[in-house]
Amino acid sequence: MADLATTYLGLKLRTPLIVGSSELTDSPAKVEELEKKGAGAVVLKSIFEEEIAHEYRAILREELKAGSSAEAVDYLDQALRAENLDRYKQLVADCKKRVDIPVIASVNCTYSHEWAYFAGELVNAGADALELNMFFSPSDLQRTREEAEAAYFRVVERVREQASCVPVALKVSSYFTDLGSMLLRLCQAGVTGLVLFNRFWAPDFDIDKLEIVPSRILSTPEELATPLRWIAIMSGRLSCDLAASTGIHDAAGLIKVLLAGAKAGQVVSTLYKNGTGHIQTILDGLTEWMEKHEFLTVEQFRGLMSQKVSANPAVYERVQFMRYYGGLFQGREGGVPGGMDALRY
Ligand SMILES: Cc1cc2nc3c(=O)[nH]c(=O)nc-3n(C[C@H](O)[C@H](O)[C@H](O)COP(=O)(O)O)c2cc1C
Repeated sequence: MADLATTYLGLKLRTPLIVGSSELTDSPAKVEELEKKGAGAVVLKSIFEEEIAHEYRAILREELKAGSSAEAVDYLDQALRAENLDRYKQLVADCKKRVDIPVIASVNCTYSHEWAYFAGELVNAGADALELNMFFSPSDLQRTREEAEAAYFRVVERVREQASCVPVALKVSSYFTDLGSMLLRLCQAGVTGLVLFNRFWAPDFDIDKLEIVPSRILSTPEELATPLRWIAIMSGRLSCDLAASTGIHDAAGLIKVLLAGAKAGQVVSTLYKNGTGHIQTILDGLTEWMEKHEFLTVEQFRGLMSQKVSANPAVYERVQFMRYYGGLFQGREGGVPGGMDALRY
């Protein structure tokens, strides 16, 4: 019988499937259900510093309008922030009481001075590890690349000081100028794991109503391509663990990221689409595949397709469909020149 156990961030996981941060993990009852369905670990819904600030600003504005003094409003500000943080700490503590699988708390802050404080508080609440959902938008035209990148390292340094007794993972985007070097440097700065990659809410337009609407909220399996490539490139080159996020929808997706070198794969969208019973379907598919290929443990095949050990490492660097474009420029017609084979490596 195939053994699905793995380790991630130094924690023992009975399966390499982690339920990612979302509303699927926002209550102890849901987390208990995910454990029963086979999840190896959960990342709790993030505590959003930005959201707290927004919620409080609205209440504080009302208080000011009602004539409260600045000191009273300041006091209220502190009390409200503490209340929200306490609610999240309670979530961590309650989940820890109800499940045996690792519970990873998730922090999503915008103002860097708050990150470390939140992290320390969540460790005190009993989180097995922290996942920092870190993204500073590159839309600030006055901020240089160096300044933007430095912000990430400041946060890592402060969080490491506050939360030295638990592993810390960073969930990052692929929007870095020197992605490979940045991932390496973040790892060297002391994080225990990197989650590749975060997926963002993005605006779309309703062209009839001339309104901004959200674009697709759930991912598609095609979106796995970017995390897969970068896990394959980075695995075996970093001292920290890698987990995949975005586009794992089935057993094949999970098997691919493990072959690329990830220690685990996070799933969210596929569970929204197919229900949490889909966890078992994915794990059954993984078991069946391991047995077919005679792998007894995940470690036996993890990283087998990474760039470092690949028989064809150059394929991971290739970014252009040269034959396809070449054919087009020669003015050929009738679809893809050379048929679909021309699009294969
Ligand atoms: C409804 C919803 C809520 C989410 N909430 C969070 C969150 O609170 N914190 C976070 O880091 N990511 C959040 N995410 C992002 C997911 O954790 C995940 O990175 C993303 O959905 C890509 O993975 P997937 O392809 O398996 O869905 C959310 C995603 C969805 C769809």
